[in-house]
Amino acid sequence: MFICTLVLATGAMVPGAQDSTLADPTTHRDDLGRRAFLRYCRECHGEEGDGLGKFSYTTGERPRSFQSGRFKLATTENAIPSDHDLEETIRRGMPGTGMSAWGQAPEAEIEAMARYVRSFSLDAIRGELDREVAAGTLTSAEADAEFARQTTPGPPIPMPPEPPFDEERRARGERIYLEACASCHGPNGRRLRNVPMADFEGNHTLPTNIVGGVFKGGNSSADIYGRLYLGMDGTAMPGYREAYSPDEIWDLVHTVQRIIAEDGLGQPEDEAAMAAAVAAAEDYSSFFDERGDEVVTYEERRTSPILLWGGGALLLLVLVGSALLTSRR
Ligand code: HEC
Ligand code: HEC
Repeated sequence: MFICTLVLATGAMVPGAQDSTLADPTTHRDDLGRRAFLRYCRECHGEEGDGLGKFSYTTGERPRSFQSGRFKLATTENAIPSDHDLEETIRRGMPGTGMSAWGQAPEAEIEAMARYVRSFSLDAIRGELDREVAAGTLTSAEADAEFARQTTPGPPIPMPPEPPFDEERRARGERIYLEACASCHGPNGRRLRNVPMADFEGNHTLPTNIVGGVFKGGNSSADIYGRLYLGMDGTAMPGYREAYSPDEIWDLVHTVQRIIAEDGLGQPEDEAAMAAAVAAAEDYSSFFDERGDEVVTYEERRTSPILLWGGGALLLLVLVGSALLTSRR
């Protein structure tokens, strides 16, 4: 009885046990996740999860900063990835990018790394909200509600069973593809070149070549359905849950698979029409965050400290130099 009370009492005293930032107090003190992250991921994603790791410059598409909590791949209604979504991304990697597959890592490490990846945004978002509470712009109850809104994964997207792909659906899928997708992905699944696009971190990203079938979020029917339903958060790839019925989204999934299998849709691909489409395409080269500020790109984030230190050092040199010169006279 005495031991029980002692255990309960010490449990209540564990620092951070009441910490409202974390539903699960083990999340960011998870040593297994931290150690695995430092071992496998730090060189690209950075120790602080800011995407500025030592070798981040080596990847075409830049490593994600985990601090915003925004991800391209999710299967939840609000596009905040579930634990399972993050684990799947870690297992699969993002084919075609520097984000390699880590499925060979022990299962416990994968799960712990998914939690650790999420902890960066939990800390960053909580910190931002705490500053607003301190400044008096939010009450702590409002901050808690906002924290939950920004960080809690929604329910899984609804996905009705996969229908068959008959002649009628084949024609319908092709029609919708040409109407909705060809402006970016090309009439035969070869992307329109030179359409400038950036993702929400200001990183250069192009419409995927459908013909190759190499998709960041995997290319099973269910994977593609999820991408088309939700889009890819923070990129030019739109979600179609409002524009099309689940049935039509399935037809699009099958059309995407048909483009992969048949190497296109047999559409005429005329260079002049392509050039006109490229010229007419919206310019996605700048992205703006929720406050309307232009996002700071990877290049800017990476070079600004160098410029700052470099500039500071140069100024010091000039000052010391001129001081020496004047003292000599
Ligand atoms: C060689 C560099 C590299 C390494 C090492 C690396 N990543 Fe990545 N990672 C990337 C790149 C590049 C992207 C962004 C790809 C994109 O947006 O197209 C990315 C994206 C991600 C994403 C975002 C997925 C989304 O939905 O937006 C997660 C999560 C992630 N990595 C986790 C990890 C974890 C965990 C590890 C260690 C096990 C790791 N990465 C190791 C390069 C790397
Ligand atoms: C406004 C331009 C645009 C339109 C319209 C568009 N996409 Fe995309 N799509 C993109 C971009 C950009 C990406 C790559 C985003 C990234 O990887 O960061 C993409 C990625 C994809 C991918 C790869 C997903 C993955 O897991 O890597 C598929 C498949 C796809 N789109 C299919 C479609 C289909 C089908 C349609 C029409 C229903 C469509 N897209 C409409 C711009 C567009």
